[in-house]
Amino acid sequence: MTEVQATVAEIQQAVQKRRNFAIISHPDAGKTTLTEKLLLYGGAIQEAGAVRARRNQRHATSDWMELEKQRGISITSTVLLFEYDGFTINLLDTPGHQDFSEDTYRTLAAADNAVMLIDVAKGLEPQTRKLFEVCRLRRLPIFTFVNKLDRPGRPALELLDEIEQELGLTPCAMNWPIGMGDQFQGVYDRQGHQIHLFERGERGRKSVGETVINQGDPRVEQFLDSYLYHQLKDDLELLDGVAPAFDVLALHRGEMTPVFFGSAMTNFGVELFLRYFLEFAAPPGEHESTQGLIPPDCPEFSGFVFKLQANMDPKHRDRVAFIRVCSGKFIKDMTVQHPRTGKTIRLSRPQKLFAQERESLEVAYPGDVIGLNNPGMFAIGDTVSTGGKFRFPGIPSFSPELFAYLKNPNPSKSKSFQKGVTELSEEGAVQMLYSTDESRRDPIVAAVGQLQFEVVQFRLQSEYGAETILEPLPYNLARWVVGGWPALERVGRLFNTVVVKDGQERPVLLFKNTWNLHQVQEDHPDLELSPVSPLE
Ligand code: G4P
Repeated sequence: MTEVQATVAEIQQAVQKRRNFAIISHPDAGKTTLTEKLLLYGGAIQEAGAVRARRNQRHATSDWMELEKQRGISITSTVLLFEYDGFTINLLDTPGHQDFSEDTYRTLAAADNAVMLIDVAKGLEPQTRKLFEVCRLRRLPIFTFVNKLDRPGRPALELLDEIEQELGLTPCAMNWPIGMGDQFQGVYDRQGHQIHLFERGERGRKSVGETVINQGDPRVEQFLDSYLYHQLKDDLELLDGVAPAFDVLALHRGEMTPVFFGSAMTNFGVELFLRYFLEFAAPPGEHESTQGLIPPDCPEFSGFVFKLQANMDPKHRDRVAFIRVCSGKFIKDMTVQHPRTGKTIRLSRPQKLFAQERESLEVAYPGDVIGLNNPGMFAIGDTVSTGGKFRFPGIPSFSPELFAYLKNPNPSKSKSFQKGVTELSEEGAVQMLYSTDESRRDPIVAAVGQLQFEVVQFRLQSEYGAETILEPLPYNLARWVVGGWPALERVGRLFNTVVVKDGQERPVLLFKNTWNLHQVQEDHPDLELSPVSPLE
């Protein structure tokens, strides 16, 4: 076997055993709790509570995260790597706060699968819907975990209906709850034809085995309340009769979502979920590029930058570029091409990421994420590869919802202000838009959440010494004009909107509300507008 063949075989083997995903949820649905329990099964932590503790500990070691400490929240995404049943799993963690930022969207660009976590009492919530839209754009396979079954909630059938009606996804219940709240007795695994019994314990701190009984086992009636047992039989008959069978290809096309019920806090249903997730999740796949599809087992190493983060470690004042490996094998200190600048770069000091701790990393495979100290040369969406001949399409900007002029009240600080604004927008901390009126020089900061404004102002002050003033603007929707300035000129004068330009001088329309957007679309059916920025 040649060396190339050996490498390809090694990569194929690694890809088969790698799965990566991000959790999408609304704050409080239980993402931290579920993450913790998954890590517990993966042996990455020994006792639940560790992720939370780590989050708290992190505050002591990171100073630009001072803001996080003040607000007691987590702003940044991190990557958690763990092993289970022979698989290497990358969990791309996203900020949990309500005022989340574009980081969350970009992280989904690096994910191969998403887990939609829903609180059984609340069903779909606003942030879940927004994140779902991004997953839909990427046609990500979505697994659903309905959480907090140990508490009273909405009927399972009603939740399935909501997923189908509101998201247009076909739900397929993989397991079915037996009771709920105080009456919760367990779940029925529809694939394995087994009942998993719920035992009230001490909040599931350790990973424990569950009592499992087969369908038809005479002990069923002894274990289950007879009313719930008959209810279960009726529900299953109904499901078997009307619900579509599970179809893994429909899952991979982003059309069907397998639904699991459980309780992350009490550790119930988590391992069952993890086992099915590993069986059905999409492995790292091919990626579109300027030279066609790049398969993961392409012998050339390639990847793209999906996130940049400054000053994670106050002792070094560093910047870290997070790269999703798409193909080939990454080897520490390898030399790669950087097509955007045409330069050759040595990828030294790679880091394996476990929350905020960074360990040195020797090799990585498709589906993995590596953190590289970024000497200022990377931008969001950049491709790196050993072949250097192709580029991935990059990561679009998503429609911001909050807009404000960012003013510098102190003329002597104008240089630092400019530098800060440029660097923070390059890093992708916030989007910058500009007025088409040349006399208005102040940039417009455009964010997905209020917190992004705070982060930008805080960082301009603490890292660049530039104090700033925000002057809010009354818009809450942005749309890129497909076809650019010529397309805009063709339609002539527009009402109910204002035209600005993005950092790449492309026209963007701002609207006060969806009504105004629809008005413009009705008046100009030929004008094509997009909620995401055009890719190169
Ligand atoms: P998030 O990251 O999505 O924001 O949610 P997080 O895991 O922090 O969970 C939010 C709250 O919901 C926590 O309660 C957590 O304990 C609780 N929770 C998570 N999963 C379950 C579950 O399966 N059942 C029940 N009953 N509760 C669950 P908290 O009171 O905010 O915190 P704590 O005092 O429990 O730590």
